[in-house]
Amino acid sequence: MKKINVAIMGIGTVGGGTYEILTKNRDFLRKTQGVDFEVTKVLDKNLERIRSFGIPDGKAASSVDEIAADKDISIVVETMGGVEPAKTFIEKVLRAGKSVVTANKELVSKHWPDLEAAAKKGGAGLYFEASCVGGVPIIRALQEGLQANKVDSLVGIINGTTNYILSKMTDEGVSYADALKEAQQLGYAEFNPTADVEGFDAAYKLSILSSLAFHTCIPYTCVYREGITNITKADIKAGRELGYVIKLLAIGKRSGDRVEVRVHPTFVPVGHPLAGVSGSFNAVFVHGDFVDDLMFYGRGAGARPTGSAIVSDVVYAAKRSEPLYSDFVNDGKVAPGINVSTDFESKYYLSVSVKDAPGVLAALAGVFARCGVSIETVLQRGQDGGASISFLTHPSSESDVKKAVAEIEDLDDANKVVSLIRVLS
Ligand code: HSE
Repeated sequence: MKKINVAIMGIGTVGGGTYEILTKNRDFLRKTQGVDFEVTKVLDKNLERIRSFGIPDGKAASSVDEIAADKDISIVVETMGGVEPAKTFIEKVLRAGKSVVTANKELVSKHWPDLEAAAKKGGAGLYFEASCVGGVPIIRALQEGLQANKVDSLVGIINGTTNYILSKMTDEGVSYADALKEAQQLGYAEFNPTADVEGFDAAYKLSILSSLAFHTCIPYTCVYREGITNITKADIKAGRELGYVIKLLAIGKRSGDRVEVRVHPTFVPVGHPLAGVSGSFNAVFVHGDFVDDLMFYGRGAGARPTGSAIVSDVVYAAKRSEPLYSDFVNDGKVAPGINVSTDFESKYYLSVSVKDAPGVLAALAGVFARCGVSIETVLQRGQDGGASISFLTHPSSESDVKKAVAEIEDLDDANKVVSLIRVLS
């Protein structure tokens, strides 16, 4: 039977989950995959952490060089996270000819070309199923299940932390700050939650997924990004009254040579399948020209689901005769001729706080008309001498809506656009 020795660099939650699967399911993998996987080395600066997973001291590696020099190791799992030293370590073992399996979306989205170049140099593979949507095999589906199709859109909830917070706000009427605090207490949100709540994590993942779906590099810097920190109880309530729930959506679309990639809070119609994706779950809708609609759903984080994705890559790497590389020029640049546009079209919800006086609504309507934004619904409520007017627009361009927002705020010092939320149609 083929024997594959595996090293793990970084034995935190996900690295520990990976070790557990490879150890507990070793016999199962022998029987079903015909390969005997053994974790022979673990690298972590904290020996106590290594011991906490029941890993014998003899497996603790002293440095990445020890792993790179070990001729018997052919696959290295990286679960350290962050850019450095993960990048240096991965490149070192790739150049030594060892295939790498990583869960590191920040690193892949920022340095994929360098990593792939190192992999090619070493004749090794670079696999990252676990970098996006946890245990849901979305990358394998894009690379190996949907090649027949021109994928024209992927729309999803790909960050569990923000989905947990928004679900909590929706279901229990709590504020953003209270929902965040609870997410931190439960271990869903980090002590410093910026990467999740400001949409960076989703933008990294969308950059990877849309590059694979649209067959061109889509650098994460091209992704339009807004987080959830400004979402209020009033927004949740307004959404409910209009038949929507708020989700942080990642949206990638390709039409001919035009691509749009964006992450932002979105009103999702209550009847849409994404509206029912709650808590820390993730889901991605993919549309291909022949396959039509697909939905992928499951746990987007956690030791066991993410470990499951990592082990699937370990098995994949062990059984492939040739490494799998990108099917596009992976140079970190959008392919010539492809235009990543930030002037996308959407329906919008705007909530404007104004003075309650004759002519105010007419003036706002005039701004929308001048900016070419057509209104579908208007709601007005009085509040302490002022008023709150909410508008739902017909599909409009981002640039026209932004122009209208600036003009509304210029009309009168008392005017303030307090919410601007895109609507999924
Ligand atoms: N922080 C991520 C999330 C999990 O909340 O979805 C790992 O990608």
